[in-house]
Amino acid sequence: MKTTDLLIPESVKEVLIKSGIVELYPPQEEAIKAGALDGRNLVLASPTASGKTLIAELCALKHILEKDGKVLYLTPLRALASEKYEEFKKYSAITKSDGKRISVGISTGDYDSSDPWLERYDIIVATNEKVDSLLRHKAKWMDDISLVVADEVHLLNEMERGPTLEVVLARLMQTNPDIQVLALSATINNVEEIASWLKAGFVTTEWRPITLKEGTLLNNEIQFKDGDARKIEREAKNPAINLALNTVKSGGQALIFASTRKNSVTLAKKTAPKIGEVLSKPMKRALEREAERILTTGEKTRISELLAELVKCGVAFHHAGLGGGHRKIIEDAFRGGKIKVLTATPTLAFGVNLPARTVIIHDYRRYEPGYGYYPISVLEYKQMCGRAGRPKYDKIGEAVLVARTADEADYLMESYVLAKPERIWSRLAVERILRSHVLATVAADYAHTEAGIYDFFGRTFYAYQYDVAAIKNMIAKILRFLYEEEMIDVSGANIYATKFGKRVSELYIDPVSAVVIRNALRQKPAHLTDFSLLHMIAHTPDMRPMLRPYSSELDKVAVFMEERIDEFMTPVPSEWEDRIGYEQFLGEVKTAMVLKAWIEETSEDEIIEKFHVQPGDLYRTIENAKWLLYTSHELAVLFGNKEIQPLTLELMERVDKGVKKELLPLVKLEGVGRIRGRILYNAGYTTIDDLKHAQLEDLMKLPLIGPKIAKKIKEQIGGFVKKETWEKIEKEEEWKQKALTEY
Ligand SMILES: Nc1ncnc2c1ncn2[C@@H]1O[C@H](COP(=O)(O)OP(=O)(O)OP(=O)(O)O)[C@@H](O)[C@H]1O
Ligand SMILES: [Mg+2]
Repeated sequence: MKTTDLLIPESVKEVLIKSGIVELYPPQEEAIKAGALDGRNLVLASPTASGKTLIAELCALKHILEKDGKVLYLTPLRALASEKYEEFKKYSAITKSDGKRISVGISTGDYDSSDPWLERYDIIVATNEKVDSLLRHKAKWMDDISLVVADEVHLLNEMERGPTLEVVLARLMQTNPDIQVLALSATINNVEEIASWLKAGFVTTEWRPITLKEGTLLNNEIQFKDGDARKIEREAKNPAINLALNTVKSGGQALIFASTRKNSVTLAKKTAPKIGEVLSKPMKRALEREAERILTTGEKTRISELLAELVKCGVAFHHAGLGGGHRKIIEDAFRGGKIKVLTATPTLAFGVNLPARTVIIHDYRRYEPGYGYYPISVLEYKQMCGRAGRPKYDKIGEAVLVARTADEADYLMESYVLAKPERIWSRLAVERILRSHVLATVAADYAHTEAGIYDFFGRTFYAYQYDVAAIKNMIAKILRFLYEEEMIDVSGANIYATKFGKRVSELYIDPVSAVVIRNALRQKPAHLTDFSLLHMIAHTPDMRPMLRPYSSELDKVAVFMEERIDEFMTPVPSEWEDRIGYEQFLGEVKTAMVLKAWIEETSEDEIIEKFHVQPGDLYRTIENAKWLLYTSHELAVLFGNKEIQPLTLELMERVDKGVKKELLPLVKLEGVGRIRGRILYNAGYTTIDDLKHAQLEDLMKLPLIGPKIAKKIKEQIGGFVKKETWEKIEKEEEWKQKALTEY
């Protein structure tokens, strides 16, 4: 089917053809035949890069241009939301029947708002969590949504985030009964079941734009599933490295999946010297620049330095311990063909679009702290394979599993390459997860009787798979808990949320976290400090994942805890009577210690060394801490606790910026973070007023400030930089740069 034959407005066809889409891919054609553009609910399950997004786009445009509709696009990750937002923006020049242009909005942060400004957009891209929180705030504009797209719907199977998606879809289908649902998924085993839950038709395909060859790699020989075999030249001991090298030599890129962060780093280190040898001079220069960008983004740490060294050889590692800035540089450089070999933990397989000619699964096992090694699922394996083959660059994509023995090779062929992906199961029936959804159902008025609550949960995927009776007991138990903790109240058959319950639901936290905070606020410790509050939030179940102490750290953490024993706002478990509680508590103390070090301006590198906490983990902990401090502030307001309110606000700002109190005024300036703030402060510029009186030339001389930042600072505080002064400075800089490059 040609783009020109589609029953869609001409303006849309123009945009498509301009972006190179002249003929539909087979799965797209099938989706259209299945009624996607006629308003029918549909689950489209098809491999990576088979063009599922386009169907969502066409559907969306149909709704906006022909039905005066509004579209909500759900994604599981923030990074994916921005990717989709950018993709939808190509339609923003199209005019609607009311004469206005199509508008696209994105919303991923701040869970305590109904974002009324989203009303003006035709397409809203958001994460599942954000939409869940919007539903709790009863955002008015959501009534107007006529199409919801659920991307990566196989996420339903995920422990933490699957239930959110399930509840969001069930809720939207309840509140907007005429809504069209379009669910996009990887190939899974029970598409029919999901489709039937969503009252949808379904399309499943195995079609891929690039042929995929799957196989196993044993002793430098690949055995493909179709019977073909291929020998790889042996240059290193590790066959995975030999294969990667072979790919790079023939002009491709390789993606190696490792089981742990540590392994991904080790593999990258071993691969780098080999790849470095085969790079061209211009490529090496381009990589030098990427390395420089890594070093100038965020704080310099041993991790960023190592990463930069590897990147110079065209190799990088990618895992959750890296900060977002560095991850983005790596992803872009890989997509741009500069990084030739990327080693990654399996999380990468999920969502982010990073194709490579060769995908090497170095270990079919995965490591989970506290759980040990376990084999990955077939679904995960398929997601990894799906990364093989770059459209437009590669004719074939290859995906191999590395085997250590012939027996293992047989096992891998049988259990992964030739296996079918597992069924997707609802993960809703976990008390910790279910309780916030039960509270939300009452608090946002989606139900006000026990029967109403069961009616709602009867619409979930869980109820479809198992029957709602299976979670009735759990719901009843949760209702009792919420009642005892005064989040809900009853009058006759009616159940309604108290002010506390409403606020907790809006704040988007686990009700148990709210109870922890409420009880702590009531209990004034002998000595109230920053640490008291940091520990209080670390004590909530929403502080996840916990930064557990390594055995070598246990003594240090225990001593620290003893020293601060009069600062805790929650009961301290006994080491002898409650061993598990005690160990958990040490984890909370460590988490609070890390946050404390952060706001005392300890450098990221020192935090890595002292606590074995990598930047990525640190940033996640910071994000969580900010939200929980905000929550604590809001609950302190609700309970009229005047003493805590200003403390939580100040701490929230300090955690946000990672600074001592005295730097707070300075770091409010754009371009000034904890490092530059400290430099300014130590140079005697301790207030905004000091900066107002400072000379531009003096600021420029400070380390890490330079002319651009100095000018930006001056301009933000109402200072004025004379045109002549600035031109003179720019000239001088230009000369300096020239002198440097010529040298
Ligand atoms: N009909 C087409 N002709 C040419 N290119 C297309 C066509 N349809 C989609 N594409 C391109 O294919 C690429 C992959 O499409 P898309 O991102 O929709 O994949 P997907 O099926 O959502 O995969 P994933 O499972 O990775 O999310 C995009 O760059 C898109 O522009
Ligand atoms: Mg997609």
